[in-house]
Amino acid sequence: MIKKMNTSPDHRILKALRASAVHLPAGDLAGQTGLAPGVVATRIPELRAAGYTIDEQPHLGYRMLAAPDRLIADDLSGMLEDCKLVREILVFEETDSTNNVVTQLGRNSAGEGLVVFAETQKAGRGRLGRKWESASRKGLWFSLLMRPRFPMQTWTRLTTWAAVGAATGIEEVTGCRTAIKWPNDIYIEGKKVVGILSESHAGREAFAVVGIGVNVNQTDFPEPISKTATSLALAAGHPLDRQEVAAAILRGLDHWSRKLEDGFSEIVAAAEERSYLRGRRVELLFGDRTLTGIAGSLDENGALLVITPDGAQVSVASGEVTVAAHRL
Ligand code: BTN
Repeated sequence: MIKKMNTSPDHRILKALRASAVHLPAGDLAGQTGLAPGVVATRIPELRAAGYTIDEQPHLGYRMLAAPDRLIADDLSGMLEDCKLVREILVFEETDSTNNVVTQLGRNSAGEGLVVFAETQKAGRGRLGRKWESASRKGLWFSLLMRPRFPMQTWTRLTTWAAVGAATGIEEVTGCRTAIKWPNDIYIEGKKVVGILSESHAGREAFAVVGIGVNVNQTDFPEPISKTATSLALAAGHPLDRQEVAAAILRGLDHWSRKLEDGFSEIVAAAEERSYLRGRRVELLFGDRTLTGIAGSLDENGALLVITPDGAQVSVASGEVTVAAHRL
């Protein structure tokens, strides 16, 4: 599929303003965006009405001082021009679950690289049918459509890839250290900050939906997650621009997507460097079986190797892990 280029005037103006740390003369802004000066002059008040603070000085021109606390597809796509993975961004004010929206679009032949965000989800889903708390404008709730060309038995790779892409993006934008709790959680300072829900859809045009929930600006959480969840703002000590966090995560996913098929061992190595479980005593629930043992490394497809009390090494492709109280 050919990358769908977003060429709307707002996309071009926002991209140019974000790229400039100083005032940009009106003529330069028109030149850089390829827009007629009259178009720039009419879009600036519209962008202000949408919540952007854009300063205007008689001889100096325009400068963006602040962006609204809203996800805006035109702005986000301008921050991701070099990102090959992301082909189209849609933002919903409210939906049931972004995984549901992308599943529907995937069934209607939407292409790889479609990303759907929602400011809030009324039926956000976690693994094992759990509810996912999706407070309005406090986090990033989004899903990505993937059509991997490698065999479906190894599509579990997508969860490891998403965890590494999100973790590295978050590290870049916050400076915080992250840990990946296999297979689908990211922790900061022992608390969960990201959850990933990957769902595969078989068929003639098989596809996967990778749903990612990131707690960004919450200062507290409702029961039953009040003690176990954290946000990037709590970890970093200040609120964050959600669009910048979203762009950093999508850039992280883009970077590691080149290693999904060939070079997956690099993704595995990046996940292992951040392993939350390695060396811990764990209880694993997969299907109707429970397995206890010590969590070890990951195999070549990202499956967790667990050493059982009788010394056997068992490889688990996916499952629910509980950590025992102490590390052995
Ligand atoms: C988990 O921790 O169990 C996974 C949580 C995944 C949450 C995200 S938010 C965006 C996408 N839409 C959903 O309904 N779920 C995922």
